[in-house]
Amino acid sequence: MLKIDNMTMKFGGVVAANKFNANIEKGEIVGLIGPNGAGKTTIFNVVTGVYKPTEGDIIFSPNEEEQIITGLRPDEIAKLGICRTFQNIRLFKQLSVLDNVFIGNHLRIKSNVFSSILRLPTYRKEEKEMLEKSIYLLEKVDLKDEMDEKAYSLPYGKQRRLEIARALATEPKLLLLDEPAAGMNPQETRELMGFIKDIKEEFDLTIFLIEHHMEVVMGICDRILVLDHGTLIAEGDPEYVQNDQRVVEAYLGVE
Ligand SMILES: Nc1ncnc2c1ncn2[C@@H]1O[C@H](COP(=O)(O)OP(=O)(O)OP(=O)(O)O)[C@@H](O)[C@H]1O
Ligand SMILES: [Mg+2]
Repeated sequence: MLKIDNMTMKFGGVVAANKFNANIEKGEIVGLIGPNGAGKTTIFNVVTGVYKPTEGDIIFSPNEEEQIITGLRPDEIAKLGICRTFQNIRLFKQLSVLDNVFIGNHLRIKSNVFSSILRLPTYRKEEKEMLEKSIYLLEKVDLKDEMDEKAYSLPYGKQRRLEIARALATEPKLLLLDEPAAGMNPQETRELMGFIKDIKEEFDLTIFLIEHHMEVVMGICDRILVLDHGTLIAEGDPEYVQNDQRVVEAYLGVE
């Protein structure tokens, strides 16, 4: 589904990602972990086109064909089927919960500008479908009762779920979640784990997720990549990674 090939991202003298390689298979949930500043979000930013890597390539294969997406714009990448959420939540805070999800549909609109301005029947039909889909997604993330509230009025955990619903509205094949459990209490975190597994099945997703909550990473990931100072230091299933000496040192330091 996704191949990150020998990718380096430098910001001036800072090497945020250093010859990083990853392969994510269709249907996997892959975790990306590592200490603060390790370069995790940078990898997501490169994959989603926020930054063009200094070196290396990003290859996306939602179907059989491989497509090099290095250097494409974020909207082009989203249209191909990669969507993300952000570490620092980015919602349209003054808009309603429903509108935030509704906006996610715009990538898939088929009607042209004229039919939407003139509100022709084709557009109205599509609009109605988008509305129904948005409400369905809100039901999925358990926010239907709050759909008319302003996004800013939601507590943190719900804002994170709303961001996921908006991402789902773009109909991604690959979903990138940057610390989805950040700011959630233990109960919300447990629910989130079940929820991520559910949406993966229902929407036939492949998921790449960054997370500091170890119970989430260890509980739902098929495979984990460990990053330290921009370099991949370990890769394997949860049990393997937890017992890897380099991983323990990266987190706890060397005595
Ligand atoms: N736009 C930028 N300009 C300059 N330096 C940047 C930029 N983005 C990231 N960096 C630097 O790259 C390094 C990796 O940052 P990144 O945000 O990717 O880490 P992270 O693993 O996501 O950390 P955290 O767990 O704290 O979110 C850091 O040293 C950071 O300061
Ligand atoms: Mg980060």
